[in-house]
Order: sequence, then C-alpha cells, then structure tokens
Amino acid sequence: MNTTAGARALTVHQTTRPHGFPTPEHFAFVESAVPAPAPGTALVENLYWSVDPYHREMMDGEFALHAPLEGRTIGRVTASRTPDLAEGEIVFHRQGWRTHAVVTPQEVRRLPAFDGVPLSAYLSILGGTGLTAYVALTRVARLRSGEDLYVSAAAGGVGTATARLARVMGAGRIVGSAGSPAKVAHLKEHVGYDEAFDYHKGPAAQLLAKAAPDGLDVYVDNVGGEQLEAAIWSLREFGRIVRVGTVAQYNDPQPLAAPRNLTEIVEKSLRMEGFHVRNHRDLQEELYDFAVPHIQSGRIALDETVVDGFDRIVTAFLGMLRGENTGKMIVRSSAAAGAADAWDRRGPGASGPLEGPLAR
Ligand SMILES: NC(=O)c1ccc[n+]([C@@H]2O[C@H](COP(=O)([O-])OP(=O)(O)OC[C@H]3O[C@@H](n4cnc5c(N)ncnc54)[C@H](OP(=O)(O)O)[C@@H]3O)[C@@H](O)[C@H]2O)c1
Repeated sequence: MNTTAGARALTVHQTTRPHGFPTPEHFAFVESAVPAPAPGTALVENLYWSVDPYHREMMDGEFALHAPLEGRTIGRVTASRTPDLAEGEIVFHRQGWRTHAVVTPQEVRRLPAFDGVPLSAYLSILGGTGLTAYVALTRVARLRSGEDLYVSAAAGGVGTATARLARVMGAGRIVGSAGSPAKVAHLKEHVGYDEAFDYHKGPAAQLLAKAAPDGLDVYVDNVGGEQLEAAIWSLREFGRIVRVGTVAQYNDPQPLAAPRNLTEIVEKSLRMEGFHVRNHRDLQEELYDFAVPHIQSGRIALDETVVDGFDRIVTAFLGMLRGENTGKMIVRSSAAAGAADAWDRRGPGASGPLEGPLAR
C-alpha cells in the first residue's frame, strides 16, 4: 500500500446558504490528514471534478452545511484494502469537491478505456452531461432525421453535447442561444450550430423568430423563462419541448414570469416533458456505443473548459454559473497530467471495456 503519512487532504464545505448569486464566502476549504482506507475500502486521489448547475440548487437546502459536498469526479486508487480495487486503477465516483476520498467498490464505476478518448470525456460528452443530451434527444424529444432543433444555454456542457449528438443523428437546422457574441461565433464556427443568437440582445421571442423563421420541431430547454416562452411561439404543430433545466432561475429568488403562452401548447398540440438523467443510467453503454466511434473519427469534438488546480474549484463553479465556460466546466488536479498520460499510453490491446468485478 502506498504511504500517505504527512500528506494533507482538502475538502470543500458550504458554510452558509446564499440568497441570490453565491460567492466564495459561502464555501470553505477544510484541511485534514489524508484519510486511511478501512478494510473493504480504498483511498482514491481525485483527478478531475465536475461542477454543475445542480450544485447551485443543492446549496439552497440539500447540501448539509459544514460537511463534504457531493459531485461527480474521476480519481486514481492510491491505496487499497479490498481485492476489488487495485492500486493505480482509474474510477468514477460521486465524492467530489475533495482531493481524496475513501470508497467502497460498490460506490465506484470503473471506466471503459477507448483509444483516443481522454479521461476528461467521462465527465463531459460521455458523462452525465452527454447522457443528459442523449436522453433528451433519443428518449424525450424522439428526434427524427431532418427535424429542426433549438437549444438554450447552447454553449454550455449539455448545450454543446446536444448539438454534437443531434448533428450525427441527422438533425435538420440547429439553432442555439448563448450569453455573449463570442459564444455565438464559437457555436457557429466550431460546434456546428447553423444559427445562434445572444439572448441579451433583445426579447427572446423576436430573436428566435429571426433565427428560425420557418419554425422548429424540438426545443431542448436548459434555461426556462423567456426562452421557453419564445420556443412555444416558434414551435410547429406537434413540436416537442424537452425540459432539461432552468438555469435562468437558480440564482434568482423571484419566480420566473414566463412562459405566459401555455395555451399554445394545446393550440399546436405540443408535448412538454421533463426528465432527470439519474433515471436513465441504463443508457450509459448505449451512449458509449453511439458516441465513441464518432469521437474516435473526429466527427464529435470535445467541448470542455478545463480549470487547473483543486484550489480553484469554487472559482470554476461560480464562473460556470456566470457563463465563463464553453462546453463542460471541469476542474483538473496537477496530478491528472500523469494519470492522463498513462491513460493515453494504453496500447491497442487496452481498448474496449475493462474487465473485472467493477466493469459495468
Ligand atoms: N435534467 C437533468 O438530468 C439535467 C442534467 C444535467 C444538467 N441539467 C441542466 O441542464 C442545464 C445546463 O447544464 P450544464 O451542466 O450543461 O451547464 P452549462 O450550460 O455548462 O453552464 C451553465 C450555463 O448557463 C448559462 N446561464 C447562466 N445564467 C443564465 C441565464 N440567466 N439565462 C440563460 N443562460 C444562463 C451560462 O451560459 P451563457 O453565457 O450562455 O449565459 C452558463 O454557461 C442546466 O439547467 C442544468 O440544471 C439537467
């Protein structure tokens, strides 16, 4: 077993509840000794962390104060007292927001290794973010070839994944909205959006009507409010609205005024349906089967903003809420470079799902 004597661990706690937009003062970095694994557990040094809008929702009540937070993370086993986890193995688990975690084999998922797919992808297009986009398109919208699509928060993690996946699924015109002219340009030049607009530039209904003058079949709604109202106006008869999230609401204590045109849902026979990705974990392998060949061929590129250093995890989280990311916001530890090198050096024989008790 590796010795960790003298090493220190850092854990982020939430210390107070925010009213409106959170600040660094709502968090504390708590230092402790690196925990020792008990029999049947293993110590994982975390390498990549996901910071997500749902963490903001949890800050209002579900996150206990002065306690470690939860979040998706990828780490390397550095000491093990269970035969089911070998030192050096790379695993996914949910004890994020901390440098080290003690896990049981049941709490982790071993990641399948695919040639040419970097570790960070398991938090972006192949992680909960990509799975959300995949479920939105295949199970809720049931997107058909040639259908026209509108995506809000289009430059974020789910938004970029939605466009990448929809394009290879044969979508028609893909329109997106985002929070700056630079993001709009990026969406059109690099992510494959046919049209995009900055939602700050006027009433969303007008901007969307101009961007999609012939109407739309599907709206993937990451935002809610005015943009949802705009989409209801622009959708064609039998259009579908996929309610993914309401990021326009999370930092605003006032309820959103829009949508005010729900009667149109009846008039146009629209279908509006929400879902939670945690109820669709059984589709993880299907996502790998669908997306990995397109990543390997270069048809799907990775959209990620990677922030270096665990000490910047709160900064990255708050930056994501302010829209400082394009693609999935990910935090990377300084130790991740070595792990990523080792991951990337896998020989041809190492491709495909790993075998063993935790492969799933
Ligand atoms: N249903 C599920 O299971 C599930 C799973 C994952 C995520 N989600 C939801 O999906 C959405 C996107 O999540 P993500 O992880 O991909 O985050 P993200 O889009 O990468 O990051 C959040 C983005 O929201 C945008 N934003 C912030 N305030 C806004 C406002 N007032 N109006 C419009 N846009 C605003 C920002 O971009 P701009 O610069 O463009 O403003 C920011 O980049 C969220 O609503 C999240 O809760 C749902």
